[in-house]
Amino acid sequence: MTAAPPPDLLAAFEAAKGFMPLDEGLALYAAAVEAGRLGLPLLEVGTYCGRSTLLLADAARRSGVTAVTVDHHRGSEEQQPGWDYHDPGTVDPELGVMDTLPAFRRTLHRAGLEEHVVALVGRSPQVAALWNTPLGLVFVDGGHTDEHAGADYEGWVPHLAPGGLLLIHDVFPEPEDEFTGQAPYRVYLRALASGAFEEVSATDSLRVLRRTRAADRGRG
Ligand SMILES: C[S@@+](CC[C@H](N)C(=O)[O-])C[C@H]1O[C@@H](n2cnc3c(N)ncnc32)[C@H](O)[C@@H]1O
Repeated sequence: MTAAPPPDLLAAFEAAKGFMPLDEGLALYAAAVEAGRLGLPLLEVGTYCGRSTLLLADAARRSGVTAVTVDHHRGSEEQQPGWDYHDPGTVDPELGVMDTLPAFRRTLHRAGLEEHVVALVGRSPQVAALWNTPLGLVFVDGGHTDEHAGADYEGWVPHLAPGGLLLIHDVFPEPEDEFTGQAPYRVYLRALASGAFEEVSATDSLRVLRRTRAADRGRG
């Protein structure tokens, strides 16, 4: 049976700043609960203000695992001042640069889920280079350039355990549907082409893939 978030969690998700629509959130939650059964950490690239992290945190709580979320908290290209996805409320008034860490911490605290999350503040490839623990889930929702999305794939997917789930957000096969580029779509194609994944589900722009075996060296 597909797991659904409890009402208080759904309310917290809807109240949190972020970009994920409800139907994708429900799919993310169900996948995270399923992946949690592997007993391994659930990893997110792209914390922003914690909207999706809440769902991973509660799924982690249910399985007794930890959700790990990585972000430098300075925002992606399309979230900078002057761009479509900019929110002036995310700018540190003293420094004049984006800082989504305070909003993230408030989101998690209000939902009572802080103890189920480890937040890593830094650049995804730099953090991934230090990582050496198998993961039950990798959720790629960080930078949308080929450089960033590709580095997220290369940095984190090697740690995904067999049977673990790879989730990719903002997968748009049609270029006209996406303002921020098609790098996540290319990462999705790359995962399928590696031969190491089978597709589990597609909900709007969220793809869920299951690792069926270790990737061939250099291909995955
Ligand atoms: C689309 S937002 C994440 C949205 C969030 N998952 C949600 O559902 O609300 C992308 C985030 O990725 C972060 N980001 C972009 N490139 C990054 C990188 N190379 N390393 C770490 N974080 C990065 C940005 O700071 C931004 O907060």
